[in-house]
Amino acid sequence: MQISNSNKDLVKKINALKKEKNAVILVHNYQRPEIYDVADFIGDSLGLCVEASKTKADMIVFCGVNFMAESAVILNPGKIVLVPNMDAGCAMADMVEAKQLKEFKGKHPDAAVVTYVNSTAEVKALSDVCCTSSNAVKVVRAMPQKKIIFVPDKNLAAYVAKQVPEKKIIAWEGYCPIHHFVDRSYIDEVRRLHPKAKIIAHPESKPEVLEVADYVASTTGMIDCARNDPGDEFFILTECGMTERLHRELPNKKFYGLCNLCYDMKKNTLDGVLKSLETMKFPVRVDPKVAAKALKAFEKMFEITK
Ligand code: 13P
Ligand code: SF4
Repeated sequence: MQISNSNKDLVKKINALKKEKNAVILVHNYQRPEIYDVADFIGDSLGLCVEASKTKADMIVFCGVNFMAESAVILNPGKIVLVPNMDAGCAMADMVEAKQLKEFKGKHPDAAVVTYVNSTAEVKALSDVCCTSSNAVKVVRAMPQKKIIFVPDKNLAAYVAKQVPEKKIIAWEGYCPIHHFVDRSYIDEVRRLHPKAKIIAHPESKPEVLEVADYVASTTGMIDCARNDPGDEFFILTECGMTERLHRELPNKKFYGLCNLCYDMKKNTLDGVLKSLETMKFPVRVDPKVAAKALKAFEKMFEITK
């Protein structure tokens, strides 16, 4: 992929500042493609958590949405974490508030709380363990409790419940609008239009969609599925930025995708990344007491998945 001249200039300035400030740029797979060009690491939520936990840099510029940057703060107490845009939220993370979860926990005192990373730091702080789209099944299976409150994604919860039938999953009523409003009739149309394409779906999709997908995977897991599958045509059921990511990673394979855009993920720009490094804006802060509790939920996740 060619980099335009104006972007080349921005990339050069960003790389120089990164070096000067000993900063690292962590980028989610759904970000604008021009941001990939300054990334030290591009990945899914799990990959980004792992990178954030082991970086030696003094500063992290996080290009994703706010819950991801908060996770980087939680995993790096005392380190500077900047986001180019403070308004990049996540509709699903906003579907559960700490106060509501506290009340709900009171009704199910014998249940463990397993919280998808797409959640606020306050919600994580009330949880026994965190999970991501790539390790949710493993995490739930490893919990000693039979009863699991799964927060906030009801679709990921349903997917986990199917894989781990020995657990009783109580799902929160949250969902991702990008994935949730795709239904079975859409998949039937995809099969008709692209009969040779394998369908790779994100587990935030509805059960009726996951049932007929060829693969279910996290965003980085999608790259592995397409790489390892002998076929060369794929339909990608997740946010539309993922098709560009796959095109770059596997240029000899063909990818079709949804036109569903996560506007929050696209709020970061290359210009914003440069301003962030120049002005040290915008720092992400998490109350240290909340962060310490949320860190325990992350540590439990790493202990299970190590
Ligand atoms: P991944 O961890 O699979 O990248 O998912 C994050 C996300 O927000 C999907 O909508
Ligand atoms: Fe949140 Fe959905 Fe956007 Fe992912 S795609 S960040 S779950 S709103």
